[in-house]
Amino acid sequence: MEVLQDQNWTPLGEVGGQYSPSILLLLLLLLYKSHQQGAPAARTSLSVLRRSSASLRRSAAAFLGSPSADAPVSSSMPPSADLGRVLAVITGASRGFGRAVAKDVSRSVRPGSVLVLVARSGPELRALQAELIQSEAGRAGLQVEVVVADVGQKEGLEEVLRRSKRAFTEEITHLVLVNNAASLGDVSHFMKDFTNMAEVDSYLSLNVSSALCLTAGVLQAFPRRPALRRTVVNVTSLCALQPFPSWGLYCTGKAARDMAFRVLAEEEPDLRVLSYSPGPLDTAMQAEARSKTADPNIKQSFSDLFAQGQLLTCEESCSKLMKVLLEDSFTSGAHIDVFDV
Ligand SMILES: NC(=O)c1ccc[n+]([C@@H]2O[C@H](COP(=O)([O-])OP(=O)(O)OC[C@H]3O[C@@H](n4cnc5c(N)ncnc54)[C@H](OP(=O)(O)O)[C@@H]3O)[C@@H](O)[C@H]2O)c1
Repeated sequence: MEVLQDQNWTPLGEVGGQYSPSILLLLLLLLYKSHQQGAPAARTSLSVLRRSSASLRRSAAAFLGSPSADAPVSSSMPPSADLGRVLAVITGASRGFGRAVAKDVSRSVRPGSVLVLVARSGPELRALQAELIQSEAGRAGLQVEVVVADVGQKEGLEEVLRRSKRAFTEEITHLVLVNNAASLGDVSHFMKDFTNMAEVDSYLSLNVSSALCLTAGVLQAFPRRPALRRTVVNVTSLCALQPFPSWGLYCTGKAARDMAFRVLAEEEPDLRVLSYSPGPLDTAMQAEARSKTADPNIKQSFSDLFAQGQLLTCEESCSKLMKVLLEDSFTSGAHIDVFDV
């Protein structure tokens, strides 16, 4: 639909020789279809895992000699030096990507900023808190709050909101919420196995409902007002766009979140909404994927990525996220993949 709504397209054969929206859409569908209908081994090969649908869109655009539908990524915009005086709420900050985000954000904020770090593992969060307080940013006045909470529970979300409100000061110029906490779900089964509604509900509650409700709570707690920028990051995945056999819950959750955040971007034009796909990361979630995935091709692909040293470090991926946030030129609601930054 983004393609159809683009006002810059002119019908095929008209001045500039551009392609009509319907022809472009058809080409994109053909590209995607041929991508989906490849042999199973090829479909799940390393190269496919590393190729995002954003890349497919870019290939199509290059093929057509036209700009990608949402190509804000490698902009020539000079990035801001920092994110401002920030209140940043980061879920899943105890390890993996969320921990890297907390560290990178701490280096990109002005004195007087506050980080609210959320996860269930208190010791890991407190170790990170101590590290950040001793860092240059900490010595310059960064405040770091730890919220030990299960964001899949109503009480957990309430605690995050209560502590975030308490941490806010009138000097804050930029509110940043990073919805990063997630679980892989049961990847040892296929879609036909999920007959237990409670299991599915529980997965979606943590991975979809909590991110939506936390975001809504934060937006209500910190409504639009002059001199307050507001940015919401949804940590997404290629799985939001592409089906991975035996990853039904995970793909469903990520796809649902992407759409929810696209709707939010439409509804709140002042808000900056980014769905960032960090790529295959060397984290606990990947280790779980390697050991538990039921689909043999997907499982092999992840094992190969690991064995061949092709997983990204959280730091590598996070530096791309920071580039996107500092440039701040993305289309609000866009799904941006690490390999496209
Ligand atoms: N790893 C990848 O290859 C990859 C690829 C694409 C996208 N992603 C996405 O990137 C994000 C981070 O993934 P990761 O690989 O860093 O995962 P990870 O290593 O498993 O870390 C997940 C984080 O979420 C927290 N968390 C999980 N359940 C929670 C709950 N109920 N309440 C509060 N916090 C909870 C965990 O902390 P506690 O256990 O302490 O609560 C941990 O800090 C996720 O959204 C994931 O879907 C990952």
